[in-house]
Parts: sequence; structure tokens; C-alpha cells
Amino acid sequence: MHMCGIVGYVGAKDAQTVVVGGLRRLEYRGYDSAGIALVPSKGDLVSSKKAGKLANLEAQIEHSPLPAAHMGIGHTRWATHGAPNDANAHPPLAPQGKVAVVHNGIIENFLILREELENEGYEFLSETDSETVAFLLERQLATTSNLTEATRLVCERLEGAFTLVVASADHPDVVVGARRNSPLVVGLGDGENFLGSDVAAFIDHTKTAVELGQDQVVTVTADGIEVIGFDGLPAESTTYTVDWDVSAAEKGGYDWFMTKEIHEQPAAIAETLLGRQDASGRLQLDEMRLSDGELREVDKIIIVAAGTSFYAGMVAKYAIEHWTRIPCEVELASEFRYRDPILDRSTLIVTISQSGETMDTLMAIRYAKEQRSQVLSICNTNGSTIPRESDAVIYTHAGPEIAVASTKGFLSQVVACYLLALYLAQVKGVKYLDEIGQILEQLQDIPAGVQQILDNTQEMADLAEELVDSKAFIFLGRHVGYPVALEGALKLKELAYLHAEGFAAGELKHGPIAVIDQGTPVFVVVPPRARDQLQEKIVSNIQEVRARGAFTIVLVEEGDDSVLPFPDRVIRLPKVPTLLQPLVSAVPLQIFACELATRLGHDVDQPRNLAKSVTVE
Ligand code: G6P
Repeated sequence: MHMCGIVGYVGAKDAQTVVVGGLRRLEYRGYDSAGIALVPSKGDLVSSKKAGKLANLEAQIEHSPLPAAHMGIGHTRWATHGAPNDANAHPPLAPQGKVAVVHNGIIENFLILREELENEGYEFLSETDSETVAFLLERQLATTSNLTEATRLVCERLEGAFTLVVASADHPDVVVGARRNSPLVVGLGDGENFLGSDVAAFIDHTKTAVELGQDQVVTVTADGIEVIGFDGLPAESTTYTVDWDVSAAEKGGYDWFMTKEIHEQPAAIAETLLGRQDASGRLQLDEMRLSDGELREVDKIIIVAAGTSFYAGMVAKYAIEHWTRIPCEVELASEFRYRDPILDRSTLIVTISQSGETMDTLMAIRYAKEQRSQVLSICNTNGSTIPRESDAVIYTHAGPEIAVASTKGFLSQVVACYLLALYLAQVKGVKYLDEIGQILEQLQDIPAGVQQILDNTQEMADLAEELVDSKAFIFLGRHVGYPVALEGALKLKELAYLHAEGFAAGELKHGPIAVIDQGTPVFVVVPPRARDQLQEKIVSNIQEVRARGAFTIVLVEEGDDSVLPFPDRVIRLPKVPTLLQPLVSAVPLQIFACELATRLGHDVDQPRNLAKSVTVE
């Protein structure tokens, strides 16, 4: 089981309401099935689970209600082992029906464990690795009556990545959680306590959270929590206050979380830029744990990321090389460690991850650290695994991103990468303070530019209406506009389930132009006029596709009328410097994808086959 959302609760409130409410907030993590288990009284464990979205489970509970309880666990699943059906939904129960487990992760040695149990006569009902854990726990509890100790002993037998939260009929006042390579946080309330895959699970009830370390077991009762390591020794844990509230996790009047998040982009950029300069105007990156001396040694940067974050990295490469003159490569996290990359102490690995939990990226970090490289992560999720395992971190302060397709995550990642690039330039002395200051001022202007686009979303909505029957889309860009084209195409694939491809505009003639047909919609991101060479070339690219029958939609800065004779539609962008243009040009493409998918009747926030953070390789 991967990804997935997990909730645990003990306290005075109705556990079912709290657990289902938590699952609702975590549904973005996976929505193939959902389930809960409650212990209403000693000796009695009840559960309900259902394939499909949480709404299916809620309907089932309404039809066959469960007794009231003050402790419960819940799960919303993104399937890996076993199909997304009722039988594989969590929580699996152990044979005597007294133990229920919810699990996120993959138990890598589950086949061996399962065989061991089958040899003892256990019969499995599902195809999941998670059921094995429930069975092991029941067997353990036969000799170890303490639930925490039994869980710990079971964890010792498990290999792989997992978060576990367990409920036992004989322990009606306790929920036990454990984690290795997979997320779990504790929420501290007043006479009640919570467990969740992330703080969204309990944000309605408390803002006080406890970060669990690697290989720890936590025992949660209504009055308190106790943390120990897998070695059985008491463990340290840090308490922190969540700096966003419930309203941030709600749609705030928009149809979709994605629409809301698109509109939060000016704020997300502004927040990411906030407090980065000291009184003398020098750039400062607080959370950065690498010394200036270490950064001065850096002679190569490799950016490693997945999905939209990878495209943010592609954008960043242009700025990093231009501003710092340090060679920079960008690599897909899933490919990185398998090609035997050349790394050493002076290579800086920069990982970009909105969730901070992407397994491909995490594994790339571990690989890089083994090779003795320094790892700096750019991340939006406080306390998540990736920043914890990195040498340094720059947080994007975009607030929680709930929609599966990333929007404000992307823009704030680009901004954070730019801050890093400027910081490196400052430390290396390759740019003067006033030059850095000038770029920072240009960045400060970006939120207003994005807002200008957001004030007129109707234009993209109309365009979506017009192109609603199109089956394939092409996106073209040059320079930093190239990754924007890739991101524009990705948004459309993710949300509208349509064939959409992004290309470097100059590469089109070397093959892809053959796919252009009468009426094929082609979006073209035109570089600012300041880069005349790029700008002129792309004007010829527009003519090339138009001559082959394409329907051209051109994104071009205000005041640039040189392209006007050629396109079928013109989308105006605020005038910004070339390297900053992705921060505005990506926005109309996000809106377009969202509008088109809405018209096609798709669930924009939870597209089919996808999950928000993918904790599987
Ligand atoms: C998933 C999401 C994408 C995201 C990618 C990387 O595939 O569906 O939207 O871009 O993971 O996620 P990260 O959290 O590492 O940025």
C-alpha cells in the first residue's frame, strides 16, 4: 500500500466523526478505497470499509451504522499491492477480529512473512501486504499483552517502508502508531490526541503537532503520548505549532481546491520571498544549514525532482547557470541513481518536492548522501521526510496544496530556486549586492503580475469552451518557456486525460511537426522582446505550425505586437524579465487545463490514476 492517508483518534469526541473528518482532509493522498475501525468497548472491534472514494464509505456507514466509540483508526487508500476493491480496502482485520491495522508503505518481505503465517494455518482474505501485519500482530498479542510492545516487536520483523496505526479490541483506550520511511505525525489536543499522515488529518481539532522520527513507535491515549524507538528505548520528539489553519484546507468558495490554489499564487510567491533579506539588503536563507564556506566549494549542481517539481527544476537551471556560472544539470529522480552519476563533495544536489515524501526523490537523496554529496531540498511540507534527510532546506511557503495537480507549488518552487541561485551568487561573489537586490525587486513585482492574469480568467474559460472537443494539444516554448510548455502539457494530461505534448519550439521541425494537423491547438509561449533572438525565432515557429493548419494560441507580453499577424488567439502576459517569465506564463495554462477538465466533467482535484504524493518507486 503506498501513499494513502491514515488517521487515529482517542478522546472524548465521537471517534467515527473525527476519523471520517480526518479522512476527508486526507483524501487527496489517495482515493481508491476507504475504511475505519472502532473499539466501542473492551473486547469489541467493529469496522467498515468500501472501495472507491470516501463518499462510498460514508454511504455504507449511514446504511449500516457502527456503534459509538471514543477511539478509532481510518485509512484512505492509493492502491499498490492488490486491486482497489472492497477486500483490499483497509483496515485489514486479524482472524479473530480483535486487531485492525492501517498501513501506508510497502512491506518488502511480506511474501516470506505471509508464507510463514500460512504454514501456521493462517488464511489470508486479501492480496495486501498490510494484512500480513495484522496477522503478525494478533499472533504477537497472544504472548505480549502490551500493545505498544507487540507493535514494536512486529516492526522489528518488517522490511521496507511503512506507517502503521493499530487498534486492538483488548485496548479500548489506546491507539499505537509506528513509522519507518513513511510519514506519521501526532496531534496533541486537550483530553484527546490524534495521529495522521499529515497535520491536515487533525487540523480541525488542534494545531499542536509532534514530529515522529525514523523507526519510532508512539502510544497515544486521551491523556498523552509516549514515544519509543524500535530498539525499545525512550525517544526524543519535537513539538511544533502548525502555521496554517482550517480555512486553508477548505475550498474557500472556489469550485475546486485547484482553482483556489491557482488564486493563492500571488500570496504563495510573496510568502516564499518574505523575510529573505537582512537590514543591509543581503540575502539570508534561514533554514539553510550549509555554511557559506561549503557553498563556495560547490562546482556542480544537480537538481533532482519528479513531475511538476522536475519542470520547476528545468526552469531553475537557466537562472542558476546564468546568475552563478555554476554548471547545473536537471535529472528525473526516478532515473538519477540508476545511471551511476558522477558526484563528489563539491556537487550540490538540489531536490525539489512539494510534498517532501516522494519516494523517487527520497531515494535519490539517500544515494547522493552515500556518495558524500551535500543535499539541499526545496520543499513545501514542514517536517516531511525529504527536508529531514537533507543537509539544508529552503521551504516554499505556499501553504497546503490539496489538489493533486500542482500549481502554487510549482511557482513557489521556481521562486525558491531563484532565491537559492541568488544566494549562491552572493556567496561566490559573482554578482554585486545591488544586482541581486534588483532581481529581488523584480521578483517582488511578480505577485501583482500573476494577479493581473487572475483578474481575467474568463479569457481562458472561453478558450476551453472553444476547444472542448479537441483531442490533442501541442505546447511550444524556447529557453525558460520550454519547461513551461512541458508543464502546460502535463497539466492537461493530468486533468483532461488528453494527449498533450510540450516541445522546445526549435525542435519541432526535427520530427514532432508531423503530428500537426488541421485545427490542432498549439500553444506558444513567446519570450519577452528583451531577448530578441529568441523572440524572432519563435515568431517563425508560429508561422511554421500555422502553415500546417494549427490553431495557434500565443502567450505574449503586453506591448509586443510583432506576433499579432500570425496567431488565432492572443493571451497577454504582464511584462517581466525573461528569466522570470515562467512565473506568469504558466498561470494561463493552469487555468486552461482546469477549465477544460471541468467542462469535460472530470474531478479536477482528484484526477484518475493519480495521487498527491507518491511514496512508491
Ligand atoms: C505526484 C503528483 C505531481 C507531483 C509529483 C512530484 O506525481 O501527482 O503533481 O508533481 O508527484 O511531487 P512532489 O511532492 O515531490 O513535488
